[in-house]
Amino acid sequence: MQRQALVIGNWKMNGSQPLVASMAAALAAQPELLKQVTVVVCPPAVLLTSWCQATSALAVAAGVQDINEHADGAHTGEHSLQLVAEAGAEYVLVGHSERRQWYADSAARVAAKVQQVMAYTEQPVKLVLCVGESAEQRAQQQTMTVIEAQLSSALAALTSAQLSRLVIAYEPVWAIGTGLTAEPAQAQQVHAFIRNWLTNKWGVSGAAVQILYGGSVKADNATALFAEVDIDGGLIGGASLQVEEFLAICAAAQARSR
Ligand code: 13P
Repeated sequence: MQRQALVIGNWKMNGSQPLVASMAAALAAQPELLKQVTVVVCPPAVLLTSWCQATSALAVAAGVQDINEHADGAHTGEHSLQLVAEAGAEYVLVGHSERRQWYADSAARVAAKVQQVMAYTEQPVKLVLCVGESAEQRAQQQTMTVIEAQLSSALAALTSAQLSRLVIAYEPVWAIGTGLTAEPAQAQQVHAFIRNWLTNKWGVSGAAVQILYGGSVKADNATALFAEVDIDGGLIGGASLQVEEFLAICAAAQARSR
């Protein structure tokens, strides 16, 4: 089954107005690439409007790195799904390991955030559910158990009609920002496990869900990772802050689409 290649840049707590302008200008020069690869950038929420304005004429999407699990209310400093969607976000990352580790995103909160995204039907915002094991869990051979637990708790209430709005990102915690990338075959093994899990639960529509790899993806390792059968693209941290590097990663995904 042909799944569209997808590359998402996660700027985390980085970026600037000049980076918005230079990244948008570089992408504007690549119309062919944008036909073959879905490119999304998740800047910090305060740069979302600027990103949307800078890319309004381009086939490039905007996303955010998190949302609150409530629809509205007294939650100082937080953003609801509706607020970010109205500001132009078409993709929402949920369950990133940095949020699970440092910002109290428990399995229950992640599941509630998933429900917020899926309950919002004004616009078809896509959910990018991040899963991944720590170094200790891998050393103890718990990788698949951890991934399965993260998938089942986050997606327990998902219906098959909502699957077209789901993307999974496999991000081994030990590979994030460390320069240690999973070997392509090692990543493929987990991607195949996720694909099987989705297929067992939802059949062919489960199999059609895009599964991204994230964790120290760079221009020089992207081609080998994206050549794996179940790796449909990447979720890119550090390298998405460097225009040339990010474009080279998008081009590596373009090779997958041909
Ligand atoms: P790095 O690409 O910097 O390792 O970050 C990956 C990531 O966490 C993307 O969400």
